[in-house]
This record gives sequence, C-alpha cells and structure tokens, in this order.
Amino acid sequence: MIEGMSMPISAAQQEFSADVAYLNTATYGLPPRAAHEAMLAAERDRAAGLLVPAALDEAVTRSRASFARLLGVPAERVAVGPQVSYFAGLVAASLPAGATVLVADGDFTSLLFPFAARPGLTVRSVPLERMVDAVDGGVDLVAVSAVQSADGRVAPMADLIGAARAHGARTLLDATQAAGWLPLEQPDLLVCGGYKWLLGPRGTCFLTGTAEALAALPAIGAGWYAGDDVWDSIYGLPLRLAPDARRLDLSPAWQSWAGHAPALELLEQVGVAAIHEHDVALANRFRTGLGLPPGDSAIVSVPVPAGTAELLREHGVIASVRAGALRCAFHLTTTEADVDRALDLLTDRVEIPV
Ligand SMILES: Cc1ncc(COP(=O)(O)O)c(C=O)c1O
Repeated sequence: MIEGMSMPISAAQQEFSADVAYLNTATYGLPPRAAHEAMLAAERDRAAGLLVPAALDEAVTRSRASFARLLGVPAERVAVGPQVSYFAGLVAASLPAGATVLVADGDFTSLLFPFAARPGLTVRSVPLERMVDAVDGGVDLVAVSAVQSADGRVAPMADLIGAARAHGARTLLDATQAAGWLPLEQPDLLVCGGYKWLLGPRGTCFLTGTAEALAALPAIGAGWYAGDDVWDSIYGLPLRLAPDARRLDLSPAWQSWAGHAPALELLEQVGVAAIHEHDVALANRFRTGLGLPPGDSAIVSVPVPAGTAELLREHGVIASVRAGALRCAFHLTTTEADVDRALDLLTDRVEIPV
C-alpha cells in the first residue's frame, strides 16, 4: 500500500475465499486469507513443537495498535482479553453497592448478566428508544450495545453519552456489532469482541475508555500478562502491574491473536468510512428489494416463515435466525451479487409487517 491511499473494497474482497453468499457477520466474521494463514501457521507450529509463545506477543501488540487506530484512541488505553462478558464483569465489579445501571431491553446478555449477577446493583431495563429519556440523577452507568445484536438497531450514541454526562453517569458501549463498520462516539468505556465485524477468530476482545474510567476498574483478573514486563511477571510477588490499560489484560489465546492482527490491518487499509458506506448501501439494496424503507444499519432483520434460513443455506446463502426473525448482515466481504442471490430466494417468503 502507498502511504495515504486506502485499499478499494473490490481489492479487499479478493482476500476472502468463502464460496457462499455470506450474510452472517453478525454471528461471526470471515477471515482474510493472510489472517487465516497466520492462525493456521501458529497451530502448525504448536503441532510441530516449534511454537514460540513470546514471539506471539507481537500479534497482540499489532492487534492492540490496529484496534486503537481504528477507533482513534491511544494504544496505551486498550486492554485485551477473550470475551465481552469478562470486561463487563470488571465494570460491574467497579461499581459501588447500591449503584444503578441503565440497560436496553433485549440487549445481548454478555452486557446484562455481569450487572444482574453482581449483588447490590439495581439494573433498570427500558426499550432502546426510551433510554435517553430514562437517564436521570439516579443512574450511575448506562450500558448499551452500539448496534443491537438481535435486529441491528443503532443506539443514539451521542445523545446517550450527552445525557449520561449531564447526569454524572458513566457510559459503557458494547461495540461488538458496530466496530469495523460504524464510526463510533467515544464513551467512558467501550468493549468490543473481535470475532464478528473485526474479522478475528473467537477469543479476542478489547476494552478501551477514558484514562479516568479505566483507572476506576479493579484488576481482579490480573495474571502474568497484566504485569509491567510480562515475561518478568510470571513468578512471585510483589504485584507489578503495567501502568497503562495493559494492567487489565488477560493472557492471550495465542492462535486467535495470530489470526487477528492481519484482519484488523486489512480493515484499517480499507477504512471504516468506506466500509460503512459499502455495508449500509448493500443493506439498503436488500431492504429495497424486499419493499422496506432504507435504514441506517448493516444488519437487517425480517420476519420469515420457519425453515427459511435452512432453505437459504441449501442454496448457498448463509444467514441466521435471531429473536424469531431472519438476521442478515452485510459487510466488507459481501457483494451486490450476494444480496441479489438472497433476494431471489426471499422475495416471495418475507412477511413485511404493515
Ligand atoms: C453485542 C454483543 N456483545 C457481545 C457478544 C459476545 O459476547 P461474549 O464475548 O461474552 O461471548 C455478542 C455476540 O453475539 C454481541 O452481539
């Protein structure tokens, strides 16, 4: 790549090898060739007894740096771990007894259960559309997905962050269904699983936020990888945590991070603005084909008769059923031909509510 020039979508699409019309990134993303190969190479090295764990730190460092650039935050404010629920659990553990958390009805449970499971917290759940109005002086934290997993609704991020700040509450955004295609606001804290729109394998996750919000989180999962010098932190006290967000790191699932760094770097080369335009344009091509008005999301959820996802699969179109509807996701890996292939199978089967 020439410095300052982005990679065209059509060139990036050459990096993917799936034969199906893949409309299922909301479940898991496809790996670009280099990322897939890097993960397999790490696993081959393990089988051969040649894996060098310390060498895989580079994949973690590259992934952290690339995620930071994608979101426009300093890498020192990015922690890495395996799952969203783990980081949400740290946020839950940081809240004082009696605190109130405002959440959206039907949000993904990895963002809800950690707060519901923590004794002494009140979790107030309201419809996504009513969240901004529901922020008041009694709320300590607003926790919401930037894009709803079940149906792709986009949260009013700027309004929620503004309302929370006005009432002295913090915000925790789950960007798992958003980062990689949707330009994001900067909340107090942001958690993001890597295996969907960021095209990583399962087992990678990021947490970032303001310096103040990160400093308020207890490093209760800390192990050797949270140490200042990780390879000098494997035995014995005293506690010697990293001074930055790395103090919240968990030790890496090696093969997963090996397979994530090249994927994040590809997304960076294309750029979130171009991917946003591409994804939403495809989603709207799909919506138009079904007689729906245009939307603002890369995920489209449509009511269909039972068995539709299976029928699509038989014809090489992959989508999933969530909350009783067919959930179709359109990403960098999707083409107009994929959309049209799905439309050919769906137009007579979709029930548009009147
Ligand atoms: C919004 C959102 N958050 C988190 C997850 C996954 O959570 P975890 O990393 O805890 O498995 C998903 C998976 O579908 C999701 O859609």
